Amino acid sequence: VKKGVLISIEGIEGCGKSTLISGLKNDLVCEGRQIVYTREPGGCKVSEEIRKIVSSRENDDISVLTELLLIYAARNEHIDKVIKPSLEKGHVVITDRYYDSSYAYQVGGQKINSSILEVLDSWVVKETVPNLTILLKAPIETCLKRVNQRGKVDRFDEQSVSFFMDVEGVFDSRAKEEPNRVVVIEGAQTEQAVLNQVKTQIENKVKACYMHG
Ligand code: TYD
Repeated sequence: VKKGVLISIEGIEGCGKSTLISGLKNDLVCEGRQIVYTREPGGCKVSEEIRKIVSSRENDDISVLTELLLIYAARNEHIDKVIKPSLEKGHVVITDRYYDSSYAYQVGGQKINSSILEVLDSWVVKETVPNLTILLKAPIETCLKRVNQRGKVDRFDEQSVSFFMDVEGVFDSRAKEEPNRVVVIEGAQTEQAVLNQVKTQIENKVKACYMHG
């Protein structure tokens, strides 16, 4: 039985997600609950090992289906080892990326059929659906500029503009399809304004979940 609150933070590379999450780590307080910050792919030992495989530039030739299956293997381990146990203890779990990223990158970007992900979700994610997803948006040009400034550090940073537009398109349509779960935050504002808006969204959701849960 789920007692905690699960929140995912999504957006394309360079949208300001990392800055936002460090801001939350410094600032966010949730009704005195413990806040667990984690990420995907990764978040626990085996999943961080898988992250190394999928992000390594040495594995440029990995097949898209292999990559998808590795990401879902990492997700399964992450849910079992970190997300579920934390939720059972009543914690607030904030994950830097979750399954919306798989639809955005593997379906939108890599053109894998979404029916495969739906089957995987029925095995892996099951009821561990986020109570709230923050989708941070910024103009693609701004995001790409930031990514280029920090240098191409791994495989994930090497994609083209059209790839990112396809990724963004899926994030947008998922936000439209699930307005009660996904809240879009405009990233083209000051860091403090973004942080304040996201904090308010999270605090309200946590309050509501603990009141009704
Ligand atoms: P992230 O850690 O957010 O990197 P950055 O800080 O550079 O944005 O994400 C790592 C990469 O993993 C990112 O390019 C997206 C990719 N990814 C997928 O392709 N599918 C997934 O399901 C997840 C969770 C991530």
